[in-house]
Amino acid sequence: MKINENTLLEGHAVVLVPYNENHVPRYHEWMKSPELQQLTASEPLTLEQEYDMQRSWREDTDKCTFIILDKQRWADPSVEEEQCMVGDVNIFLTDPTDPSLAELEVMIAEPSHRGRGIGKEVTRMMMCYGVSKLGVNKFQAKIGLDNEISIGMFKKLHFHEASVCKVFKEVTLEMAVDECARTRMLGDAPLAKERDYRQARGNRREQASQ
Ligand SMILES: CC(C)(COP(=O)(O)OP(=O)(O)OC[C@H]1O[C@@H](n2cnc3c(N)ncnc32)[C@H](O)[C@@H]1OP(=O)(O)O)[C@@H](O)C(=O)NCCC(=O)NCCS
Repeated sequence: MKINENTLLEGHAVVLVPYNENHVPRYHEWMKSPELQQLTASEPLTLEQEYDMQRSWREDTDKCTFIILDKQRWADPSVEEEQCMVGDVNIFLTDPTDPSLAELEVMIAEPSHRGRGIGKEVTRMMMCYGVSKLGVNKFQAKIGLDNEISIGMFKKLHFHEASVCKVFKEVTLEMAVDECARTRMLGDAPLAKERDYRQARGNRREQASQ
């Protein structure tokens, strides 16, 4: 969707930026990893298909995606933005009759960045964004039964098991955004500062050229 095409969300350890064309080659490299394909239940795509996918994430009104950047690396303007990429986070509005239901996906593609609290931070930031900007009031996460880390992370974030599909070897975890969850989540909101992405990118380029 286009709502976040000019949105930058700045957290504690990460910066979230819209998924743009310039991010596709690195994303495509990540997705050649059989481990990531298996953990995210993804099929390998050609580079062309990956560009099509990026366009569809931007254009389709039911999909919202951000690329996760390492904030410390990104703070150095001489480092290209693509070199700061560590993963992505998505919201997918799965039910056309209920736009308040969202599937959440998160991938810390760089193994060196896993287990450092980034997955949890990014998931919280995306949930706040989904609730406050997209009107989401129920989140789901579909996770492979053997992906204990991801299941553990979503359970820490107050998701509970809704169903298990033995055929797809997948569990669906859910979290309804009731008053208590909303208070908890919006309490996290000051952690994420929203800024104008084009301006931030322009400033970095200017600083790099000085
Ligand atoms: C799953 C994933 C998103 C978690 O992100 P992360 O940054 O590595 O996780 P965090 O450091 O934020 O930890 C979040 C929670 O995950 C669990 N966790 C993280 N690393 C773990 C490990 N090595 N072993 C067991 N549990 C672990 C813990 O419950 C942890 O909470 P805690 O630190 O309060 O104990 C990330 O590892 C990833 O993207 N992996 C590859 C792709 C994938 O599996 N995506 C999910 C598809 S559904």
